[in-house]
Amino acid sequence: MGRGGLRGEPLGQGPEQAPHPDQPEPPAGPVSTTGSDDGSALIERAIPSSGERLPVLGLGTFGAFDVSQRSSAFDALEDVIELFDRRGGRVVDSSPMYGEAESVVGALRAAGRQGGGADATGRMFVATKVWTQGAREGIAQMERSMQRLRAARIDLMQVHNLVDVDTHLDTLEAWKAEGRIRYIGITHYHGGAFAALEKLMRTRSIDFVQFNYHALDREAEQRLLPAAADTGTAVLVNRPLGQGELVRRMRGRDLPTWASKAGYRSWAQLALAFVIAHPAVTCVIPATGDPAHLADNLDAASTTAGRPAPDAAFARRVAQAIATA
Ligand SMILES: NC(=O)c1ccc[n+]([C@@H]2O[C@H](COP(=O)([O-])OP(=O)(O)OC[C@H]3O[C@@H](n4cnc5c(N)ncnc54)[C@H](OP(=O)(O)O)[C@@H]3O)[C@@H](O)[C@H]2O)c1
Repeated sequence: MGRGGLRGEPLGQGPEQAPHPDQPEPPAGPVSTTGSDDGSALIERAIPSSGERLPVLGLGTFGAFDVSQRSSAFDALEDVIELFDRRGGRVVDSSPMYGEAESVVGALRAAGRQGGGADATGRMFVATKVWTQGAREGIAQMERSMQRLRAARIDLMQVHNLVDVDTHLDTLEAWKAEGRIRYIGITHYHGGAFAALEKLMRTRSIDFVQFNYHALDREAEQRLLPAAADTGTAVLVNRPLGQGELVRRMRGRDLPTWASKAGYRSWAQLALAFVIAHPAVTCVIPATGDPAHLADNLDAASTTAGRPAPDAAFARRVAQAIATA
């Protein structure tokens, strides 16, 4: 079942999905890391279509970034973005669906707290979406997003929830050729859309696919993650904490000894390590407006104290511990 149910992000289409049996044991992806000025290092993965490397821990903006720029929540987001950049984070995922989020990301970029623009030399890798019907409406919306994000070029433009997807993919192919965007993506948030995502990966020119995957929501392991690997499509994982439900479920429970010994300090970290363990995952994008939670999430994706990247055997233990709690 999609643990987030129908709360949270406004809806696209389709039913929720079911978990499935234990995954096979693929080898963990090669470990390379992004250094930062505090000595920690984030695991990196390559975008298959270009070879460009990205840190495996990104930042979602749904909810957490939909705030007034004159609020204390915005002040906390300044700290979030500063920490994210300092620790080597790059991928920030937004959408015109997320209220003020694009404008808030743009304001934080303009304030210079994240070290650069949305281009090959800037540090933030800006991902947003188009979420409307019609080619003209899509173009107008994407141009508005660029203004709101204060970006002359968007790193990744995704078709949100597959809304009018063929129409927008035609536009995005033209925009990519013109250099207005660097990568093309498609997104959804539940298993009812996985067959459509896979078909598009196999028939259109798609650099990134974004979908839901977490320790209690494993349908993606059946076909979609292997299909992404097969087609050379980068994977962004949304709702990796089940919109926070995974963390709430585990509240008050001690971490297993094997997890503490491996250097993990929270259930959120274990939930993120579960996702990162899959070698087809390029970047996981938990949302947070809380600097302490971001630090927690960054640590989950770091090879601190010589800790190896999580592998399939580790992921199985995490899934079992969460599922049986
Ligand atoms: N169709 C689509 O394209 C689509 C659909 C869904 C999501 N997305 C993208 O994916 C992103 C992530 O999904 P999501 O935001 O729905 O859900 P999520 O990342 O699974 O969960 C976010 C929730 O987890 C909490 N959280 C984060 N880190 C935590 C930690 N270390 N400890 C405890 N709680 C923590 C956050 O609260 P705090 O703020 O208090 O930390 C927030 O309530 C979205 O923001 C969006 O960018 C895209």
